[in-house]
Amino acid sequence: MKALIFLGAPGAGKGTQAREVSKAFSIPQVSTGDILREAARKQAPMGLAAKADMEAGALVPDEVVCGIVEERIGEPDCRKGFILDGFPRTLAQAKFVDGMLEKKSFGSPLAVNIRVDEDILLKRLTGRRTCSVCGEIYNIYFNPPKKQGVCDRDGGKLLQRADDNEATIRQRLAAYENQTAPLIAYYRAKNLLHEVDGNQDPETIARGLVRFLRTV
Ligand code: AP5
Ligand code: MG
Ligand code: ZN
Repeated sequence: MKALIFLGAPGAGKGTQAREVSKAFSIPQVSTGDILREAARKQAPMGLAAKADMEAGALVPDEVVCGIVEERIGEPDCRKGFILDGFPRTLAQAKFVDGMLEKKSFGSPLAVNIRVDEDILLKRLTGRRTCSVCGEIYNIYFNPPKKQGVCDRDGGKLLQRADDNEATIRQRLAAYENQTAPLIAYYRAKNLLHEVDGNQDPETIARGLVRFLRTV
């Protein structure tokens, strides 16, 4: 299986699990959210244009994210396979992925849907902190660093995302329900969906997921 798609609500654990699967299979994690945030940090035109949408909790236009993914997937490290983390998020993006994979003779993707009860998503998102050096994902409630505000691995400063405030989170959850959740049925109908119970602890989820992916 070469192209993995991680579906799931904001805070479901797409990034957390993508990092583990990336390590286990030595394939890159392609997160459109991470790429957009990095572009905004560097004040690149694409990042600056996307920033207002991201801070409002709205989706960035399809053309922008499709362009990002096409360019990233064209890099040599993606030849063996890749994980799309947070992409596609609209039906138009899903159809774009189908076309892109066909063009590259990559075969069908596998969509992994991480399902989490809605009442815990808010706590996961408001509690998230991310290492500014290595990208390790922490949570002040569920997975705190040993020392507050500092990464266990490299001492990097832990940052909170600008869109992890309650008002923006509500918008992100609404965008997910309206625009992204329909993709679950899209991949199920094609028999390309694997469901994961994202309410378990991260290690249990990763172990089960990696074991399953070795069989496909
Ligand atoms: P993006 O960065 O993709 O954000 P998102 O979809 O809202 O998802 P998150 O990154 O918030 O959650 P996650 O599922 O990765 O959870 P994580 O593993 O970090 O997108 C941001 C914005 O960019 C969008 O709003 C949009 O504007 C734009 N964008 C991006 N892609 C786009 C696209 N394709 N089209 C249009 N616009 C796009 O975990 C969350 C927290 O929970 C962490 O603290 C973690 O430690 C904790 N946690 C994880 N797993 C567990 C567990 N099993 N148990 C307990 N805690 C856990
Ligand atoms: Mg993420
Ligand atoms: Zn770190």
